[in-house]
Amino acid sequence: MIETIGEEKWLELRTWFDEYVQSFADAGGRDPGPIDLKKRHTLRVCGEITGIGRSIGLNREELRFAETIALLHDIGRFEQYAAFGTFADRKSVNHAELGVQVIRKTGILNGLSGAVVSAVETAVSCHNKADLPAELDGRDRTFALTLRDADKLDIWKVVTDYYSQRDGSRDTTIELDLPDTPGVSEAVVKDLTERRFVRSEHVRNLNDFKLLQIGWVFDIHFEYTVRRLKEKRYLELIRAVLPGDESVESAFRVVADHLETRSAGSA
Ligand SMILES: [Fe+2]
Repeated sequence: MIETIGEEKWLELRTWFDEYVQSFADAGGRDPGPIDLKKRHTLRVCGEITGIGRSIGLNREELRFAETIALLHDIGRFEQYAAFGTFADRKSVNHAELGVQVIRKTGILNGLSGAVVSAVETAVSCHNKADLPAELDGRDRTFALTLRDADKLDIWKVVTDYYSQRDGSRDTTIELDLPDTPGVSEAVVKDLTERRFVRSEHVRNLNDFKLLQIGWVFDIHFEYTVRRLKEKRYLELIRAVLPGDESVESAFRVVADHLETRSAGSA
């Protein structure tokens, strides 16, 4: 049983978060836009995780815990961007691991029990892993999964807003510094047609990255997420900015079928 994070501690964390992000206002002398993007992303993930949490019947304390892990999941992003000018972990550091270091060095969870601190750190450190550690079970696993679904829901929002507004200008932080070259990689299409999410090591260009985002459908866990994904039409919006190749079309069909099966299962 996870002990609770009280209302007072939550408010303290929420205030701390704003102040902490504000301390990166000059972004190490870089464009501050990406700092603001991650701040707004984080706050929306808090909203998404609450939606998921309510849909699975979490109580008030559990919802507060879920919001806490959402608030802290990308806390490593600010230092990452200020230091390296990128959100591409492969070109800098693992932002989830850095997040755990930030939690420790700022002492922001001081005063909470060791069990709560370790549950928060686990959820933060696992949120970007391809697979959750097998030994993660029970409530810790449920919380880690709610965070991963909530994070995906909001990244779908961020990237589809970006793709639809893109007017020739490019935001390399959203694109993770990938080249916008023609075509897609065979290994990425193969991942999707074999019904698994795309391994990041297969991603070579921006089209591959869009396919990777489509492939998150194979790694979502809650019916709430399926409903919201369909309602927002995120898959179709990403499909619209991919090339019309037959290989892309067949990969998309496999993913869309999978989503339909999930929705039918929840009916
Ligand atoms: Fe995130």
